[in-house]
Amino acid sequence: MAEQKNSFSSSIGAIMAAVGSAVGLGNIWRFPYICGKYGGGAFLIVYLLFVFLIGMVLMMSEFVIGRRTQHTPAKAFSTLRPDKKGWNIIGVVGVFTLFFIVSQYHLVSGWVTSYFVDSCTGTLAGLGQNADAISQYFADFSSSVWRPIIFATIFAVITGIIITGGVQKGIERISKILMPFLLILILVLCVRSLTLPGASKGLAYLFTPDFSKLTGEGILAALGQALFSLSVGMGVMVVYGSYIPVDDNLFKTSIWITASDTLIAILAGVAIFPAVFSCGLEPAGGPGLVFCVLPQVFNTMPAVVGSIFAALFFLLVVVAALTSNISLLEGLAAWLSETANTPRRKSTLIFTVCTILMACVVSLGNGAWSDFHIFGNNIFDFVDRLNSIYMPPICALLTVIFLGWVMPEKDVRDELSNHGTLKIGYYKVFLFLARFVAPIALIAVLVSGIMN
Ligand code: PFF
Repeated sequence: MAEQKNSFSSSIGAIMAAVGSAVGLGNIWRFPYICGKYGGGAFLIVYLLFVFLIGMVLMMSEFVIGRRTQHTPAKAFSTLRPDKKGWNIIGVVGVFTLFFIVSQYHLVSGWVTSYFVDSCTGTLAGLGQNADAISQYFADFSSSVWRPIIFATIFAVITGIIITGGVQKGIERISKILMPFLLILILVLCVRSLTLPGASKGLAYLFTPDFSKLTGEGILAALGQALFSLSVGMGVMVVYGSYIPVDDNLFKTSIWITASDTLIAILAGVAIFPAVFSCGLEPAGGPGLVFCVLPQVFNTMPAVVGSIFAALFFLLVVVAALTSNISLLEGLAAWLSETANTPRRKSTLIFTVCTILMACVVSLGNGAWSDFHIFGNNIFDFVDRLNSIYMPPICALLTVIFLGWVMPEKDVRDELSNHGTLKIGYYKVFLFLARFVAPIALIAVLVSGIMN
């Protein structure tokens, strides 16, 4: 086994950093909406199954591969099977995926940061309760040239600076501060939302199982969301796995991360929907929910209170997005450092600059370049589809096949049991899920994504 060069200082540090990666924009605006849309409690049951049976298996697989080899996906696969170097292609697919996701992430996080500023300065409150004015404000803002790009750049640069600080002093330290803060923020918002009149309608929307709404599309959305939310299928958890202390119990760590991520997603729904329904508004999907519906909700509250809760909410999203963005950029920088043997600082700088440029392209796709189409989508939607439907399942499928069928089984068993010192009663179930269940489910997602 290779010696550990970079590592988190403790199990708790590893958990905080990985939860920081997992809890992001996906939890706060995507999960609550699709949960409500595809049948509330019915969706939740399927989602929980996918998260624990497939998402967590992938997370453990990536951790095993990363910690065993002490490499990023650039070299991890060929280290485990030196006779099959071709498997390093997984790292390349992962890097492409990360590159697109992080560019979009910079941009949307920049939007959120700008809305945080707007809620502090009273600009958002000044729009009042007029739904058209609020939607128009968002449309004008997101299609404008400079403001989104400036905020995306600020966000990207902050991310880059934190990563440059290193694994323990940068990533781990910031996650240990921000994750408890995020939990407090979300709990405050839940209490506020649940004490509004008529809050129960929002809870009913989120939790009452309606199996008639749970379509095939909903089931596939649940699997896609499970992968995205747990940050698996792009190699980031291979990189984080290489930083997990060697005596850490990977199974327990994965359970903590998976459970925390799921809990935060559910709490986000509890913070959002009771408030939306209490104001007599309809939940919207995607950006509309966060940037159009919620500002209306805040503006129905007495002025100062509304501004405070708006600022708290956008701050929550900024924090969630930042720790995810860190892991995305770290995934890219670590890959480059290993492939080209460049120092950490230089790799981070290179990818910060490249992803900012890509974020500019994606942003202009919303405005000045909106007439430019790729396969019938504008640039923003095309990147969004690549990120959510195609790339992660491809990379996840290859990873799980590698773990289940290609890498030596002894390595898997040895790494999960910390060289025989831990009991791994779950091992056979894990291997069955990795060999059969996860690949079949992932192929189903891919085929359906392509057919649609
Ligand atoms: N898990 C993050 C979210 O839910 O927003 C997104 C993400 C971060 C995906 C890091 C992939 C990744 F490597």
